[in-house]
Amino acid sequence: MQKQPKQPKSLIMVAPMMGWTTRHYRYFLRLISTKVGLFTEMIMTGAILNNIYLSRLLDYHDSEQPLSIQLGGSVATELAQAAKIVEAYGYREINLNVGCPSNRVQAGCFGAVLFKTPALVAECIAKMKAAVALPVTVKTRIGVDDVESYDFLAGFIETVSQAGCQTFIIHARKAWLSGLSPKANRTVPPLNYAWVYQIKKEFPHLNIVINGGIQNLKQAREQLAYVDGVMIGRAAWYTPYLFRALDLPNLEGLNTVQDRMSILQRYISYVKKSFREGENISHLLQPLFGLFHGVPGARQWRKCLTRAIQMNEVPDIALQKIFSKR
Ligand SMILES: Cc1cc2nc3c(=O)[nH]c(=O)nc-3n(C[C@H](O)[C@H](O)[C@H](O)COP(=O)(O)O)c2cc1C
Repeated sequence: MQKQPKQPKSLIMVAPMMGWTTRHYRYFLRLISTKVGLFTEMIMTGAILNNIYLSRLLDYHDSEQPLSIQLGGSVATELAQAAKIVEAYGYREINLNVGCPSNRVQAGCFGAVLFKTPALVAECIAKMKAAVALPVTVKTRIGVDDVESYDFLAGFIETVSQAGCQTFIIHARKAWLSGLSPKANRTVPPLNYAWVYQIKKEFPHLNIVINGGIQNLKQAREQLAYVDGVMIGRAAWYTPYLFRALDLPNLEGLNTVQDRMSILQRYISYVKKSFREGENISHLLQPLFGLFHGVPGARQWRKCLTRAIQMNEVPDIALQKIFSKR
């Protein structure tokens, strides 16, 4: 498959999240916003280099653009080979994961542990850059284990940017590789936005994107006074409708329940088609759980979704009655 990368740059983007930012979720998010930047889940180099069902792994719907892919790996030659393969799929950016603290990832010696070896990350970036014409970017933490100082972080950025990385997405908290689960690693270490702002000041020529704890567009826009972009993770999953205001700035005058229902209707058409083609109903419906967050009736809606998953069926669109009464 040869697709042309589309280039509009998104200041606000949805974080790569394994098990969450699936093709279906990304398709759903695009119905909410054409402007928000999207990332795939992390895909390991091994999955790309040893996969005979590559298109199943790397294909996406055209509407998902602008779409970036995140790779996990630490062997520069393998990352370069994988980059070359994914470039042909038309992704707009290749991002290297230097932030994931899961045990599985550490065993492969990539993810957050790479933060401790900036020279290795630089080698990976240089080889990937030499292999492809796409921007190659890095998503990192601000520290890992005892390697936690502003100077080390600044040194990491310096070394890796010299290898050709112009964009750093910085999750503004450190990771503990032992003792904390990946989930705890997203809440226990405190957020430290100040270091990220300082990085932007020290490296004004680089594109610095902040991540961690940002809940809504108001907070995201406030961050843009200090950095070049904002990445939102969990809030994008639990409250996906938050991105609607990127496309509809006058959202306040709108009946948002009706608007959400029209998004739902369009997504359900996709669900019906994909279900007929053999896609798993749970995977298809998971993105919908947060659509009516904060709207009276949301709980009943979630129950209906759970029931549809248990019954292995597409929910009846008449379920909208839950909301149209209100
Ligand atoms: C379920 C889940 C899966 C995640 N998977 C990835 C991943 O594949 N790659 C990555 O760089 N970060 C991953 N993360 C971390 C997020 O990208 C993000 O850095 C983190 O959630 C902090 O942002 P937030 O406070 O806005 O959620 C994941 C987070 C969650 C909740």
